[in-house]
Amino acid sequence: TDKYADEIESVLIDADVIRDRIAEMGAMIGERYRDSEQEVVLVAVLKGAAIFVSDFARALSIPSELEFMAVSSYGSSTSSSGVVRILKDLDRDIADRDVIIVEDIIDSGLTLSWLMRNLRTRNPRSLEIVTLLRKPDAVKADLDILEIGFDIPNEFVVGYGLDFSERYRDLPYIGRLHPRMYS
Ligand code: PRP
Ligand code: MN
Ligand code: MG
Repeated sequence: TDKYADEIESVLIDADVIRDRIAEMGAMIGERYRDSEQEVVLVAVLKGAAIFVSDFARALSIPSELEFMAVSSYGSSTSSSGVVRILKDLDRDIADRDVIIVEDIIDSGLTLSWLMRNLRTRNPRSLEIVTLLRKPDAVKADLDILEIGFDIPNEFVVGYGLDFSERYRDLPYIGRLHPRMYS
Protein backbone atom coordinates (compact mmCIF):
# COMPACT_ATOMS: atom_id res chain seq x y z
CA THR A 1 0.00 0.00 0.00
CA ASP A 2 2.96 2.30 -0.53
CA LYS A 3 1.98 4.50 -3.45
CA TYR A 4 5.54 5.73 -4.06
CA ALA A 5 7.31 2.45 -3.26
CA ASP A 6 9.47 2.26 -6.40
CA GLU A 7 10.53 5.93 -6.16
CA ILE A 8 11.80 5.77 -2.58
CA GLU A 9 15.18 4.19 -1.95
CA SER A 10 14.74 3.58 1.76
CA VAL A 11 12.89 4.76 4.83
CA LEU A 12 14.76 7.17 7.09
CA ILE A 13 12.09 7.75 9.75
CA ASP A 14 9.03 5.54 10.08
CA ALA A 15 5.55 6.97 10.53
CA ASP A 16 5.17 5.52 14.03
CA VAL A 17 8.56 6.90 15.09
CA ILE A 18 7.48 10.34 13.87
CA ARG A 19 4.20 10.01 15.74
CA ASP A 20 5.88 9.01 19.02
CA ARG A 21 8.40 11.85 18.81
CA ILE A 22 5.68 14.42 18.11
CA ALA A 23 3.73 13.16 21.12
CA GLU A 24 6.85 13.72 23.25
CA MET A 25 7.39 17.19 21.80
CA GLY A 26 3.74 18.10 22.34
CA ALA A 27 3.92 17.16 26.01
CA MET A 28 7.24 18.87 26.62
CA ILE A 29 6.44 22.09 24.84
CA GLY A 30 2.94 22.19 26.29
CA GLU A 31 4.47 22.02 29.75
CA ARG A 32 6.71 24.99 28.97
CA TYR A 33 3.78 27.20 27.97
CA ARG A 34 1.36 25.85 30.56
CA ASP A 35 1.00 29.18 32.34
CA SER A 36 0.64 31.36 29.25
CA GLU A 37 -2.12 33.89 29.57
CA GLN A 38 -3.25 33.50 25.99
CA GLU A 39 -3.17 30.67 23.50
CA VAL A 40 0.17 29.99 21.90
CA VAL A 41 0.29 31.06 18.25
CA LEU A 42 1.75 28.42 15.94
CA VAL A 43 3.15 29.99 12.77
CA ALA A 44 3.57 27.25 10.19
CA VAL A 45 5.66 27.91 7.11
CA LEU A 46 3.88 26.75 3.97
CA LYS A 47 3.91 24.37 2.36
CA GLY A 48 6.33 21.93 3.97
CA ALA A 49 5.24 22.45 7.57
CA ALA A 50 1.53 21.92 6.88
CA ILE A 51 1.60 18.20 7.67
CA PHE A 52 3.80 18.50 10.75
CA VAL A 53 1.85 21.38 12.28
CA SER A 54 -1.44 19.54 11.98
CA ASP A 55 -0.06 16.64 14.00
CA PHE A 56 1.95 18.86 16.35
CA ALA A 57 -1.00 21.12 17.21
CA ARG A 58 -3.07 18.07 18.14
CA ALA A 59 -0.22 16.60 20.21
CA LEU A 60 0.32 19.87 22.08
CA SER A 61 -1.11 19.59 25.58
CA ILE A 62 -2.29 23.21 25.61
CA PRO A 63 -4.58 25.20 23.28
CA SER A 64 -3.02 26.92 20.31
CA GLU A 65 -4.00 29.18 17.44
CA LEU A 66 -2.90 28.36 13.94
CA GLU A 67 -1.39 30.86 11.52
CA PHE A 68 0.31 30.30 8.20
CA MET A 69 2.98 32.15 6.30
CA ALA A 70 4.16 31.50 2.79
CA VAL A 71 7.58 32.77 1.81
CA SER A 72 9.73 32.36 -1.24
CA SER A 73 13.45 32.87 -1.55
CA TYR A 74 14.73 34.80 -4.51
CA GLY A 75 17.25 33.17 -6.80
CA SER A 76 17.79 29.53 -7.54
CA SER A 77 15.07 27.06 -6.63
CA THR A 78 17.49 24.44 -5.31
CA SER A 79 19.28 26.54 -2.69
CA SER A 80 18.05 29.36 -0.51
CA SER A 81 19.71 32.72 -1.00
CA GLY A 82 18.60 34.24 2.28
CA VAL A 83 16.61 36.92 0.48
CA VAL A 84 12.98 36.20 1.17
CA ARG A 85 9.69 37.52 -0.13
CA ILE A 86 6.38 37.14 1.69
CA LEU A 87 3.76 35.43 -0.48
CA LYS A 88 1.20 35.11 2.29
CA ASP A 89 1.45 36.97 5.57
CA LEU A 90 -0.10 36.26 8.96
CA ASP A 91 -3.82 37.03 9.26
CA ARG A 92 -3.43 38.44 12.76
CA ASP A 93 -1.28 40.67 14.90
CA ILE A 94 1.20 38.75 17.08
CA ALA A 95 2.18 41.65 19.38
CA ASP A 96 2.44 40.43 22.99
CA ARG A 97 1.69 36.86 21.98
CA ASP A 98 3.70 33.70 22.60
CA VAL A 99 4.68 32.62 19.10
CA ILE A 100 6.21 29.37 17.91
CA ILE A 101 7.44 29.09 14.34
CA VAL A 102 6.82 25.55 13.13
CA GLU A 103 9.02 24.18 10.35
CA ASP A 104 9.38 20.78 8.73
CA ILE A 105 13.13 21.08 8.14
CA ILE A 106 16.04 23.44 8.68
CA ASP A 107 18.70 23.03 6.02
CA SER A 108 20.81 26.17 5.50
CA GLY A 109 18.69 27.98 8.08
CA LEU A 110 18.41 31.01 5.81
CA THR A 111 14.60 30.92 5.61
CA LEU A 112 14.27 30.85 9.38
CA SER A 113 16.95 33.46 10.05
CA TRP A 114 15.02 35.86 7.89
CA LEU A 115 11.68 34.89 9.39
CA MET A 116 12.92 35.31 12.95
CA ARG A 117 14.13 38.81 12.16
CA ASN A 118 10.86 39.66 10.43
CA LEU A 119 8.57 38.35 13.19
CA ARG A 120 10.66 39.91 15.95
CA THR A 121 9.87 43.38 14.58
CA ARG A 122 6.18 42.66 15.32
CA ASN A 123 6.95 42.51 19.05
CA PRO A 124 5.70 39.10 20.11
CA ARG A 125 5.88 38.35 23.84
CA SER A 126 8.11 35.39 22.99
CA LEU A 127 9.35 33.84 19.76
CA GLU A 128 10.63 30.28 19.45
CA ILE A 129 11.34 27.72 16.75
CA VAL A 130 10.20 24.11 16.63
CA THR A 131 11.32 21.93 13.74
CA LEU A 132 10.73 18.30 12.91
CA LEU A 133 14.07 17.86 11.12
CA ARG A 134 17.44 19.54 11.10
CA LYS A 135 20.31 19.02 8.69
CA PRO A 136 24.00 19.51 9.64
CA ASP A 137 24.45 22.79 7.71
CA ALA A 138 21.90 24.48 9.98
CA VAL A 139 24.52 24.94 12.70
CA LYS A 140 26.09 27.73 10.61
CA ALA A 141 22.91 29.78 10.85
CA ASP A 142 23.28 29.83 14.64
CA LEU A 143 19.55 29.72 15.33
CA ASP A 144 18.19 29.26 18.80
CA ILE A 145 15.84 26.29 18.44
CA LEU A 146 13.43 25.30 21.19
CA GLU A 147 12.93 21.72 20.03
CA ILE A 148 14.19 19.52 17.20
CA GLY A 149 12.40 16.31 16.31
CA PHE A 150 15.31 14.59 14.59
CA ASP A 151 18.82 15.52 13.49
CA ILE A 152 19.33 13.92 10.10
CA PRO A 153 22.31 13.51 7.78
CA ASN A 154 22.81 15.65 4.69
CA GLU A 155 20.72 13.50 2.36
CA PHE A 156 17.85 14.32 0.04
CA VAL A 157 14.73 13.32 1.94
CA VAL A 158 11.06 13.60 1.10
CA GLY A 159 7.72 12.84 2.70
CA TYR A 160 5.66 14.06 5.65
CA GLY A 161 5.40 17.51 4.04
CA LEU A 162 8.79 17.55 2.32
CA ASP A 163 8.65 17.62 -1.45
CA PHE A 164 10.68 17.15 -4.56
CA SER A 165 9.01 19.28 -7.26
CA GLU A 166 5.79 19.26 -5.19
CA ARG A 167 5.72 15.45 -5.09
CA TYR A 168 5.83 13.15 -2.02
CA ARG A 169 4.45 15.60 0.57
CA ASP A 170 1.69 13.08 1.20
CA LEU A 171 4.02 10.23 2.21
CA PRO A 172 3.38 9.28 5.85
CA TYR A 173 7.09 8.71 6.57
CA ILE A 174 10.43 10.41 5.79
CA GLY A 175 12.30 8.59 3.06
CA ARG A 176 15.36 8.88 0.87
CA LEU A 177 14.42 9.64 -2.69
CA HIS A 178 15.75 7.18 -5.25
CA PRO A 179 18.63 8.96 -7.05
CA ARG A 180 17.17 8.11 -10.42
CA MET A 181 14.24 10.40 -9.59
CA TYR A 182 16.44 13.49 -9.67
CA SER A 183 19.08 12.60 -12.21
C1 PRP B 1 11.97 24.03 2.42
C2 PRP B 1 11.64 23.57 3.82
C3 PRP B 1 12.01 24.76 4.67
C4 PRP B 1 13.21 25.34 3.93
C5 PRP B 1 14.49 24.94 4.59
O1 PRP B 1 10.92 24.82 1.95
O2 PRP B 1 10.26 23.28 3.94
O3 PRP B 1 10.98 25.70 4.72
O4 PRP B 1 13.17 24.80 2.58
O5 PRP B 1 15.60 25.40 3.86
P1 PRP B 1 16.67 26.43 4.43
O6 PRP B 1 16.91 26.10 5.87
O7 PRP B 1 17.87 26.14 3.58
O8 PRP B 1 16.16 27.82 4.24
P2 PRP B 1 10.77 25.18 0.40
O9 PRP B 1 11.43 26.49 0.13
O10 PRP B 1 11.21 24.01 -0.42
O11 PRP B 1 9.21 25.40 0.22
P3 PRP B 1 8.05 24.34 0.59
O12 PRP B 1 7.94 24.31 2.07
O13 PRP B 1 6.83 24.89 -0.05
O14 PRP B 1 8.47 23.01 0.00
MN1 MN C 1 9.23 25.06 3.55
MG1 MG D 1 10.20 22.44 -0.96
